[in-house]
Amino acid sequence: MEMKPILKTREDENSTDYFPPSPRKGLPFGFMKLACGLVLFMGGIILGMTMRARFNWYFTSQTELFFPETIYCTDCDREAMDLRSFVKPSNLMHKMTDDELFWRATMVPKIEDYPFKRVPKVAFMFLTRGPLPFYPLWDRFFKGHKGLFSVYVHALPDYKLNVSRNSAFYGRQIPSEDVQWGSVTLVDAEKRLLANALLDFSNERFVLLSESCIPVFNFPTVYEYLINSAHSFVQSYDEDSSRGRGRYNTRMYPTIMLSQWRKGSQWFELNRRLAIDIVADYKCYSLFQRHCRPSCYPDEHYIPTYLNMFRGALNANRSVTWVDWSRGGPHPARYGRESITQGFIESIRNNGTICTYNNEPTSVCYLFARKFAPSALEPLLNLTSTVMDF
Ligand SMILES: *[C@@H]1O[C@H](CO)[C@@H](O)[C@H](O)[C@H]1NC(C)=O
Ligand SMILES: *[C@@H]1O[C@H](CO)[C@@H](O)[C@H](O)[C@H]1NC(C)=O
Ligand SMILES: *[C@@H]1O[C@H](CO)[C@@H](O)[C@H](O)[C@H]1NC(C)=O
Ligand SMILES: *[C@@H]1O[C@H](CO)[C@@H](O)[C@H](O)[C@H]1NC(C)=O
Repeated sequence: MEMKPILKTREDENSTDYFPPSPRKGLPFGFMKLACGLVLFMGGIILGMTMRARFNWYFTSQTELFFPETIYCTDCDREAMDLRSFVKPSNLMHKMTDDELFWRATMVPKIEDYPFKRVPKVAFMFLTRGPLPFYPLWDRFFKGHKGLFSVYVHALPDYKLNVSRNSAFYGRQIPSEDVQWGSVTLVDAEKRLLANALLDFSNERFVLLSESCIPVFNFPTVYEYLINSAHSFVQSYDEDSSRGRGRYNTRMYPTIMLSQWRKGSQWFELNRRLAIDIVADYKCYSLFQRHCRPSCYPDEHYIPTYLNMFRGALNANRSVTWVDWSRGGPHPARYGRESITQGFIESIRNNGTICTYNNEPTSVCYLFARKFAPSALEPLLNLTSTVMDF
C-alpha cells in the first residue's frame, strides 16, 4: 500500500501561501514582493530601534540604581568578564583554599570544542623543598618552545625562588603548604600542583619532577612523546613483600581490596582526564589519609592504586623517569660531577630496555632521569648540544 504524501502537500501549500501570487490586478508580482519586503524591513528597523532605546534606558537605570558605575566599575573595560583570564589565569597566586581550588580545577566543559585555538601544553610540575639547582639546564631545554609548556613550582611555603626574569621558572611558584616526606601531605602537594596546573585549560599532560631530575631528550622529542601517547605513565606493580602488599591496611576494605593495591614511583605523568579524576577523588584519598600511615608512604601507593581500580586501561604502568636502584638500600643512587660523561647519559637514553609505546615496542623508555647532585650541573650543561641535542 502506498503512503499518502500528506507532509509534502502541506509543504507545497505553505510555500505558495507565503507570497500570494497575484493579490491585485495591474501590479506586477515582482513589484509587490519588493514593496511588501521594504515595508516589513522598515517596520522592523523602527520597532527594533524603539525597543532597544527603551530597553537600554530601563537596563542602565536599573543597574545604575544597584551598581553605580562610579563605585563598582572604575575601569570597566579591564574588569569586564573575558574568556582569556578564565582559561589561562595570568597570575599563579590566589587566595583559594585547597577545597575551593580542587572544586574549581575539576570543572569540565560540556562542549567538546574549545571556542579558542587550543594548542595542548605539557605542564612541568616541580616538587621541591627549595632551590632548583638544575633550572639553568631546564631553561636551556625549554628555550624556543614558548606556548607548548608551562612550569609550576611547589616549594616550602616561605621559600622564594630567585631566578632571573627571563627564566621559565620566573613567577611560577604556586601557593604551597608544608610537606612532611612519607606522609599524606606529599600527596596533598601533588594534588595541589595538579589542580593549579588544571586551571590553565591548555595543559594536557602533567609531569611531576623533583629538584634532582634532569631531561635526557630535547623538548620536541619529549613533547611529541607525551602529547601523542594513548597512555599515561604511572609506574604500577603488585609486589608481594613487606614493602608492597605489606603496607596495605585491612581497614581500607572493602573500598580498596588487597588485590587492587599497587606500588609505584611517585614521579608520575598524567593526561588531563586522569589529573582531573585524581584531584576530584575524595573517597579513595580519605582512606589513604586515615589508614596509610608510617611506614606506608601514600605517595608510592595512592595514585597507582587509584588508577588500577578505576582507569587501569589508560595507564602504561611504567615511569618515564629513569632511576638507579641497583645499589640497594632505601634511596636510589645519586650522581655528581665525576659521573657525568657522554657514555653515561647515552646509557640512560637507551639502557637496553625495550618498552611499549602506543602498543609498539621502542627503546625510548626514559625521558627524564634522577637523582643528580648540584655538582652535576656544569658537566651536564657541557653535554646538552652533543648528547641531548638541545
Ligand atoms: C637573587 O640572585 C641574584 C643573582 O644571582 C642576587 O644578586 C640577589 O642577591 C639574589 N636575591 C636574593 C633575595 O637572594
Ligand atoms: C596496565 O595495567 C592495567 C591493570 O591495572 C591494565 O588493564 C592495562 O592494560 C595495563 N597497561 C598496559 C599498557 O599494558
Ligand atoms: C634500565 O633502567 C631501569 C631503571 O629506571 C632499570 O629498572 C632497568 O633494569 C634498566 N635496564 C637495563 C637493561 O639495565
Ligand atoms: C665545560 O666546558 C668548558 C668549555 O669548553 C670547559 O672549560 C670546562 O672544563 C667543561 N667542564 C666540564 C665539567 O667538563
